[in-house]
Amino acid sequence: MGAQGLYEKPPERPDMKSVAGKRFLADPFGMLLRPLHELIWSDRERRARKLLEFAEVEASGGRDLVRAAELTSDPLLRERYLRHARDEARHADMFRARGRALSGAANGDGSGGFAHWVAPGEQGMEGLDLAREKDADLLAFLHLSESAAARDFARYAKAVGGDPATRSLFQHILRDEDHHMRYTHAELLRVAPRRARRVLWWARLRRFWKAYLRFATALAGLIAGVVLTLQYFLLLPPFAWLSKRAARRERPGWIHIETKGR
Ligand SMILES: [Fe+2]
Ligand SMILES: [Fe+2]
Repeated sequence: MGAQGLYEKPPERPDMKSVAGKRFLADPFGMLLRPLHELIWSDRERRARKLLEFAEVEASGGRDLVRAAELTSDPLLRERYLRHARDEARHADMFRARGRALSGAANGDGSGGFAHWVAPGEQGMEGLDLAREKDADLLAFLHLSESAAARDFARYAKAVGGDPATRSLFQHILRDEDHHMRYTHAELLRVAPRRARRVLWWARLRRFWKAYLRFATALAGLIAGVVLTLQYFLLLPPFAWLSKRAARRERPGWIHIETKGR
């Protein structure tokens, strides 16, 4: 099902009073990251690239949710996943439209490097094999992912103070993420009332492991870059100098080499 097919019913609007804003008023880690976020979002071109990157992740998350709806045998969950997928497809369109408006370009690659680490946005299903996930595990994973997305978008909304349109976009989308976070938790309690806490902890551990793998990969890339740069500047110059010296000692023109036995 494409994104267009998901627009037949208007999206469910969450209760505006329960918006995540209250929960994020006390966010000491977010306050620590605030200068970095402001730095990342201050550049218009980078802001456009990140929004286009977010659009891709939201669209991918929406497609995964449609797939999850196909796979679940629970009719209520199927309906909620499809509604959720419609929200994610709408987020993708909103991020894409704003990203294009900022960049003035029709597309962008969104490769964020360090910026991706500090401001990753919604992470989607992070490579989960949906066919093997049970309803409760998927709901726990979604709940944590939506919770992180709502928290991050609240931080970004604060960091893009000089861009009211982007700020309002984040504020609008984080309300949906807050709603996703709450419905996935409620559904988890419905489908696995006794195991909910355990399943949530297992999902936390899996997310932590995935985050560690991403960090280790990025760190390995950084270390490889530093080592190769050091090799270039420390090892190459002596060889270049020896080669130049040898070249200076060479006699110009053809050199006759005696061959034994002739
Ligand atoms: Fe979203
Ligand atoms: Fe979401």
